[in-house]
Amino acid sequence: MNSQKIDILLLGSGGREHALLAKLAESPRAGKLYVAPGNGGMNAMATPVEDLDIDSPVDVAQWASQRGIGLVVIGPEAPLVAGVADAVRSAGIPCFGPNGDAAQMEGSKKFAKQVMARAGVPTAAYRSFTDEETAAAYVRQVGGPVVVKADGLAAGKGVIVAKTTEEALEGVHECFSGAFGDAGATVVVEETLEGPECSLLALTDGTTVVPLATSQDHKRALDGDKGPNTGGMGVYSPVPEHLVSADELATMVEIEKKVVAELAREGITYSGCLYGGFMLTEDGPKVLEFNARFGDPETQVVLPRMKADLVSVFMACDNGSLTEDMVSWDDDWAVSVVLTSAGYPGSYEKGKVITGIEKAEEMEGVTVYHAGTAEKDGQIVTSGGRVLDVTAVAPTFEEARERAYAACELIDFEGKTYRSDIGMRAIQ
Ligand code: AMP
Ligand code: GLY
Repeated sequence: MNSQKIDILLLGSGGREHALLAKLAESPRAGKLYVAPGNGGMNAMATPVEDLDIDSPVDVAQWASQRGIGLVVIGPEAPLVAGVADAVRSAGIPCFGPNGDAAQMEGSKKFAKQVMARAGVPTAAYRSFTDEETAAAYVRQVGGPVVVKADGLAAGKGVIVAKTTEEALEGVHECFSGAFGDAGATVVVEETLEGPECSLLALTDGTTVVPLATSQDHKRALDGDKGPNTGGMGVYSPVPEHLVSADELATMVEIEKKVVAELAREGITYSGCLYGGFMLTEDGPKVLEFNARFGDPETQVVLPRMKADLVSVFMACDNGSLTEDMVSWDDDWAVSVVLTSAGYPGSYEKGKVITGIEKAEEMEGVTVYHAGTAEKDGQIVTSGGRVLDVTAVAPTFEEARERAYAACELIDFEGKTYRSDIGMRAIQ
């Protein structure tokens, strides 16, 4: 086993990146850790890099070269789609995350749909449009319910699940009127799928695909899956058999393998994490979307259960030497509850002092990942909508859930808001 220490630059600032950082730091191969831009929690574990434009391929590659960085880990999608991984690899530095061409699996819903069609992978039937009139005519023809999606990256906001034709037409108008910037210049209109949702993340070096544990996000803001869509309000792992059968799981893994193989056939090496969002329909699992990165908050429950040297795994993804046996799993369950600022996903206030994080982390199995926090005058304050991911690991699902919620009670900040039903679906 290679034991040389590697200095690492991690890009990103959310709970996902905090969880990645914590797991990277456990590796015997981890040297100096840098994070750009980081947050109030990560900056205690790694050196924050100020004033680095993480979406600029040239800037990131240059910075990493100058510091002798041996591995760049890219958390969010924007730098991936912008081609930061390409630039880092061109500079001769190993990188975790797909190149720009492969990241189109997330960067363009139309591209992803086309790859899925060629790979023979089940997904919602769709049409794509580049002008409002034609899209609107199609929507009137098929009628609601229907799902309208901005083609490009829209920070999780470009999907309109329309119950009626009217709502769908509004969604089409919203996209073409520039509400999502360039992301809405092409619009995908697709059939509405029904069933429970399940995420399956997989690591791949472009050839070998290693599925990670299943998890289930809760995207709506309010209990009972009510309210607007958010970046994710809570998550648990693994998803139990009564929700995802062994057959369904095998199908999802097969789908991810087919997609990576199809891309390879087309000359595109997908190296990094491929996140599949699935709807478990009566006709079997169908793809809702692919993301070119780890999920947030899925990562916060998947990585704590993972037994692996993450630095070696990421290096293997980059250099094509990934093998199944590099990753195994704890039998424990993990539950993560997201504490948000009042008002999220709408407007909210920032700068509220947070107390109780240390006390929460004294609880057995509890880790508090920072999402939207900053350090100010020696205190941790809120700086985003999703503030903290309170994660608990325990031998049973019930214990993990109880611990996570007990830990949430110990933490306080003005406007603290959270769902009280994370993981209820896992209880039969
Ligand atoms: P996406 O970003 O494509 O995953 O969409 C965000 C959310 O919209 C998903 O998690 C689903 O809840 C919902 N969604 C997306 N596509 C569909 C679909 N074809 N049918 C039903 N719901 C969908
Ligand atoms: N949890 C949803 C996402 O990461 O896209």
